[in-house]
This record gives sequence, C-alpha cells and structure tokens, in this order.
Amino acid sequence: MWTADNVDDMMGNRRALEGRVAFVPTMGALHAGHVSLMQAAKQLADHVLVSIFVNPTQFGPSEDFTRYPRPIERDLEACRAAGVAGVFNPTVEAMYPADLLPCDVTIPALATILEGAARPGHFAGVCRVVAKLFNIVQPDVACFGQKDYQQCRVIQAMVDDLAFPIRIAELATVRESDGLAMSSRNAYLTAEERRHAVGLYKALSAAKSLVETEGETNPAAVESAMRQVMVSHHVEPAYAVLRHPRTLAELDAINPAVTGGVVALAAGKLGAVRLIDNMVLGRG
Ligand code: PAJ
Repeated sequence: MWTADNVDDMMGNRRALEGRVAFVPTMGALHAGHVSLMQAAKQLADHVLVSIFVNPTQFGPSEDFTRYPRPIERDLEACRAAGVAGVFNPTVEAMYPADLLPCDVTIPALATILEGAARPGHFAGVCRVVAKLFNIVQPDVACFGQKDYQQCRVIQAMVDDLAFPIRIAELATVRESDGLAMSSRNAYLTAEERRHAVGLYKALSAAKSLVETEGETNPAAVESAMRQVMVSHHVEPAYAVLRHPRTLAELDAINPAVTGGVVALAAGKLGAVRLIDNMVLGRG
C-alpha cells in the first residue's frame, strides 16, 4: 500500500492505476464504520483509495480541529488490513497553499439548516474539500456513510449540479452493540456519557415505531416523542426532526409512500460532546 502526502504524488500514483477506482474520503481516527466503507468500495471497483485529512475548512473557530484525534500509524494499518491500494494523507499546506485564493462551493438549500445552522460554513468546507479530493483522486465511485445523512445529501447535490462524473455510494450506519452510531467523536465521551449516548438511537427507534408500526402521520407528535426519549437519557436535544429524505424540507404530514420514506434526524449534547444520528423510515 502506497501513501502520498502531496497532490502531485497522489495524481501520479492515481494515473498509474488501470481499471475502476473507488474512493473513501475520511478524516482518520478510523473505526469499523470507515472500514465498512472500504469493504463496500472493494466490491465496487478494482482499486480502493482512501484519503485521511482533517480538513480545517469544515471546522468552526470554536470546534475541535486541533484536538481531533490523529492516530496515523493505526489508521494506515487499518487501511492496509482492509486491502486499500493507496492512501492520500496530505498536509494542510499541500491542500491549501498560503497563496491560494479560496473557492466557495455551497448548496444554499442545505447549507444553513440542521447541521449547517449549528455549524456555519461547515458544508461549504466539506464541499470544497470533497470537490478538490474528487479532482485529485478522479474516482469512478465514492463511498459515504449514511451516518452523516445531510452530508450525503449535500455531496449528491453537488455531484448532480456540477456534473461530476462520479457515482456516490451511500452505505448503512455501523453501530455499537447498544445501537450507538460509531463516530470518531465517541472517544470524547466519559463512561457515564457513553451510557447515556444510546439515547440518540433510542429516540430514532421510537420515531421508527411511531411511523412504521403506529402509522403516526403528524410530524410534530413524532418530533416531541424523540425529544422526550433524548431527555430521559440525559441527552440535551439540539434538534429532533422528521424531514423529506432528499431535500430535508419540513413535512406537513408523514406520508412515506409519497415522499419515498422520511428521515428522522437527531443531534444532541452530552456534556461538551455533540453527536448526530439519523434513521430513514417508511421505506419498507
Ligand atoms: P469522517 O467523519 O472521517 O467520515 C468519513 C466517512 O465515514 C463519511 O462518509 C462518514 O459518513 C462515514 N462514517 C462515519 N461514521 C460511520 C458509521 N458509524 N457507519 C458508516 N459510515 C460512517 O465525513 C467526513 O469524515 C468528512 O466530512 C469528509 C467527507 C472526509 C470531508 O472532509
């Protein structure tokens, strides 16, 4: 497995590959969720390329950019074990040379709602780095986790509107045995917060049973039940909503047959740690 820490080396290594390339962009601190993307990628192409880059442009000024975990040796070992052909792990300077005039790529309809409201500029940073990585890596297919549902919608919107010749594969969320979605940020939780964190999954499961078993049609009723479950698990709700699965628009009524399912999205705080999760409901 080769590694490249600058754009020229990465592009050179990429050009030498024959056949189809699947790409898994990450920020490292790899866990079983990331590995599941690499395994799915293997089924989709001849070669799997991974990027490991903690992208400064998607972090707000008071967010965890500097303390985000960077266990690079362990991450490279995980990539090697997963059969990855090459890893692009550029320096910040290689991706964003100081003399660059920055480009802004945004999806206005998705940029300032939900995660975008809580994290101004976050999705512009994500779009900019993913567009840049796509141009450097030139994959046939790129794999993203449904764990970051709004990110999937943003990337798909960017690929559709700007006609990137890349297929986006969206893979299911990998969870711990109690249901907590795996996340590099789970490492920040204390033992007690870790026990409470399952409240996010419980809230989404409650929404699923209300929509799919009880046939609830009022979004407000489901949203209020989700918040209650979060609070009962000592998770402070940031949002708990039901939305259209593609546009993330608010729903007047729950009618999965018409909208192609609905998505329940939840964000909550445990102490200083903010976690997100989601579940698509009513797709049968
Ligand atoms: P990161 O948080 O490292 O996630 C990399 C990929 O792994 C994303 O597509 C994310 O959705 C997926 N992922 C995370 N947890 C998962 C889980 N429990 N199950 C399945 N997939 C999971 O998302 C980013 O990095 C960045 O924003 C990036 C796209 C790399 C741009 O910087």
